Amino acid sequence: MRSIKVNLDKKTLSSYEIRIGTSILDRMILLIAKNHKAAHYVIITDTHVNRLYGQKLQNAMSEAGHHVSTIEIPAGESAKNMATVMDTARSLLDLGADRGTVLIALGGGVVGDLTGFVASVYMRSIPYIQVPTTLVGQVDSSIGGKTAVDLPQGKNLLGTFHQPSAVFVDLDFLETLPQKEYENGLAEIIKYGIIEDDKMFTLLEENMDAIQSRNPAYLPKIIETCCRIKKSIVEIDEREQGLRRILNFGHTVGHALEAVSEYALSHGEGVALGMIAAARLSAKMHYLADDDLSRIESVIAKAGLPTRIPHAFAPQTVIGRLKTDKKKKDGVIHFVLIKKIGMPFVNGGIPDEMINTVLEEMKA
Ligand SMILES: NC(=O)c1ccc[n+]([C@@H]2O[C@H](COP(=O)([O-])OP(=O)(O)OC[C@H]3O[C@@H](n4cnc5c(N)ncnc54)[C@H](O)[C@@H]3O)[C@@H](O)[C@H]2O)c1
Ligand SMILES: [Zn+2]
Repeated sequence: MRSIKVNLDKKTLSSYEIRIGTSILDRMILLIAKNHKAAHYVIITDTHVNRLYGQKLQNAMSEAGHHVSTIEIPAGESAKNMATVMDTARSLLDLGADRGTVLIALGGGVVGDLTGFVASVYMRSIPYIQVPTTLVGQVDSSIGGKTAVDLPQGKNLLGTFHQPSAVFVDLDFLETLPQKEYENGLAEIIKYGIIEDDKMFTLLEENMDAIQSRNPAYLPKIIETCCRIKKSIVEIDEREQGLRRILNFGHTVGHALEAVSEYALSHGEGVALGMIAAARLSAKMHYLADDDLSRIESVIAKAGLPTRIPHAFAPQTVIGRLKTDKKKKDGVIHFVLIKKIGMPFVNGGIPDEMINTVLEEMKA
């Protein structure tokens, strides 16, 4: 089991360890008992993950002598909303959860974001532990303390910063992950390569067929590299005042496409298309060489992700959606662009016509 420390504000004692390994659940339970001792643990999980792993974790923790309960939420993004927050809060009250309770988020990014949000507001905040079971969760959403739920007007519009007390990444969970969900995780992994690590990008390029078919030779190292990249960025900019914005590479257009497709596009598919749009804009603005653009498109295709927007859409609707993005400042859409692979920057504004052209080029 590998351990990576996320060093945050010493005053608030918010530093924590990310532990990564295979078949680590028994050791996880021991570490939770040692470092996060609580009178009551509440596992929050979704219907799919509960069936696969929830009962198993609850039993193992009970056998180890802990008082542990489980709250199940519906699976999928459509449950990441205030209604589920209210249901969860009600269940916590029914279970007698108080400030001595620790929540355990067992699931993908939906469970992680929602559990983090509930933990940050329930009784003015209680601790929570992330046990991510998707590749997206393991390389991205479980680290960094951004919590959120969606509003009808858009994704992640209500949220807080609330760091987890610990993150446990067990690669065993990935065995049951559907291929499409796995590929969503590959989109985030490619993102890390593009924004921060040209060496990892080359490794992905050279071995994407094996990685896409889940050859175990590559994944542990890749997941660890991604966790290290995310933790380094979060350490420097915990609250997304500056550097952390580079993690949104591909997400501006990605979120807009996801929304306009009424979520027929998954997050990973949106991000894949958004990364291509951002790379194309970077090339059009003469920052990025065409060769690097081709490399990006090709690795995304090899990962099984789309490189063309597969549904009918009006570019103007997408641009309209971009303008309601919460990350815009002063009415200008700020894009994360790249000068080359491994070198991102935040651009001050791109003309609508150029975005329109790129979206037209990307029609299937
Ligand atoms: N907080 C952050 O920094 C951050 C970063 C990235 C993404 N996110 C959020 O994460 C969410 C996406 O997360 P996700 O992609 O993990 O989606 P998800 O949580 O919806 O999980 C995807 C699907 O896989 C199922 N599943 C989970 N683990 C499984 C397993 N081991 N075996 C079989 N099935 C399993 C789930 O039940 C679900 O149906 C989005 O809401 C996004 O906004 C947050
Ligand atoms: Zn993402």
